[in-house]
Amino acid sequence: MTEFEHKSDWWKTATIYQIYPKSFCDSGDKGVGDIQGIISKLDYLKFLGIEAIWLTPIYQSPMIDNGYDISDYYAINPDFGTMQDFDELLERAHKLGIKIIMDIVVNHTSTEHNWFQQALSNPKSRYRDYYIWKDPVNDDVPNNWQSKFGGSAWGLDENSNQYYLHLFAKEQADLNWENPDVRQDVKNVISFWAEKGVDGFRLDVINLISKDQAFPSDLQGDGRCYYTDGPKVHQYLQEISEEVFQKYGSVTVGEMSSTTLEHCQQYSSLDGKELSMVFNFHHLKVDYPNGEKWTRAPFDFIELKKIFNKWQTGLNGQGWGALFWCNHDQPRIVSRLGDDVEYRVESAKMLAAALHMMQGTPYIYQGEEIGMTNPDYTDISQYRDVESTNMYDIMVKQGDVSHKDMIAILAQKSRDNSRTPMQWNNSAHGGFTKGTPWLEVAANYPEINANYAVDDLDSVFYFYQKLIQLRKQVPVITDGDYLDLAPEDSSVFAYQRKNQNQQLICINNFYAKEAQFELDESVKLDNARYLLGNYKDIGAKPSESLITLRPYETKVILVEA
Ligand code: NOJ
Repeated sequence: MTEFEHKSDWWKTATIYQIYPKSFCDSGDKGVGDIQGIISKLDYLKFLGIEAIWLTPIYQSPMIDNGYDISDYYAINPDFGTMQDFDELLERAHKLGIKIIMDIVVNHTSTEHNWFQQALSNPKSRYRDYYIWKDPVNDDVPNNWQSKFGGSAWGLDENSNQYYLHLFAKEQADLNWENPDVRQDVKNVISFWAEKGVDGFRLDVINLISKDQAFPSDLQGDGRCYYTDGPKVHQYLQEISEEVFQKYGSVTVGEMSSTTLEHCQQYSSLDGKELSMVFNFHHLKVDYPNGEKWTRAPFDFIELKKIFNKWQTGLNGQGWGALFWCNHDQPRIVSRLGDDVEYRVESAKMLAAALHMMQGTPYIYQGEEIGMTNPDYTDISQYRDVESTNMYDIMVKQGDVSHKDMIAILAQKSRDNSRTPMQWNNSAHGGFTKGTPWLEVAANYPEINANYAVDDLDSVFYFYQKLIQLRKQVPVITDGDYLDLAPEDSSVFAYQRKNQNQQLICINNFYAKEAQFELDESVKLDNARYLLGNYKDIGAKPSESLITLRPYETKVILVEA
């Protein structure tokens, strides 16, 4: 048996579907999605062909950050349903052969969590040391570290006159992983869900858990160099992996914020000592000029290819990456790198092929499979996301940008762009709810919805279905070496995947203008055939080595000896 055929590595040929429960499907009229809503769509997901669902947090939470602020790891948020609903979901999904991956958020808890409440009310309690407390320095915050959602990362407890660390919202207090009791509690939480039969875990910002214990001010930046891929992070992950993940055979994917390739090679090392795979975000920062998210900018195409090249070659044979364009923190990819008006279907398919022909485990974020777009909100009152509203307040109040410009920036960059309710059909609110949705549905739901997509054999949906199937049928997609065939081309992204028996060439035009790509003369046309394309009339095989690409065209060629 080769490494890739090993049963425990099922996720190397699988595609995983991400559900953001709040926006997926409301089984009633609350305006918020729920677990019964998810159950009602399992057949749709089975038809798409995915093998596992990653559920973003469904635990009890005050929902300041939509569930990433957990107040009880052992309870289901009543907005989403009950533990019985969850057990039913697990059972029904398993019956269909779909695995369930839970989101584990243990860099921080909600400040409403019992641990934090005890830490606050009694500084002598054992829970005080579950969090990170520091005395003021010169009557001010302990250092200059910034919250990822804007402002200082330190919150003041006026009663004790000490600060606690929060790398995210002030309602999300960072846990003190130096404390072995914290680590034991984390292991207990994960074991509880693994015992229930959950198949795997997505670990939220897991590379931030180990902080430099000197807590120095960062003279060059916002503090991230003192807690990103921190001093003991590998040790902590190995501890949990050995005691929990390996014991239960769980698949794990770590969300790695501002990480490096070298660390990810170790996090996802093939010996399985830490995690199964990693998410990194470098390819989604190509429209952050000089690292600045909160500005409008076109994307840097050459840089995008460079980043993929680095990670595809760097992880090959060393570790394993998650492949993704979209999630609940990112704007819709078709609006971001494609053309969501004139070539929406073509560009959504091209982007899908460009990603899914790479090595790794692809993730599809709800709605991506039907080519959902950003909603183009025009008013600040339409936004709900704590990061977006914080940044609006900070940047507009400070006078960094005008109200009008910030609205334009949010329409391109806000996390709410991907959180709009799933568009199921052309009835009111896209069929997401019978009530009033918590976040407005994109106005294009009468044309872009799952019902239409399933009825149309040429839709983006069937293209994704095909990609999911190909990954299972064509080994080179899983194990082939990666080679960028046109790193400097200003409009074509062409790469090769190659193993001993197969050569796959994926050619993508990222723009609306016609483009050309010349196949290397070593490619034997006699043995080549088209595996996939997003225009109907490409024929069975390339007839010459000069390939012409129409707007946003993708062509995937398979060469077999
Ligand atoms: C990453 C999650 O994906 C994001 O939604 C959340 O706000 C932060 N981690 C903090 O938990």
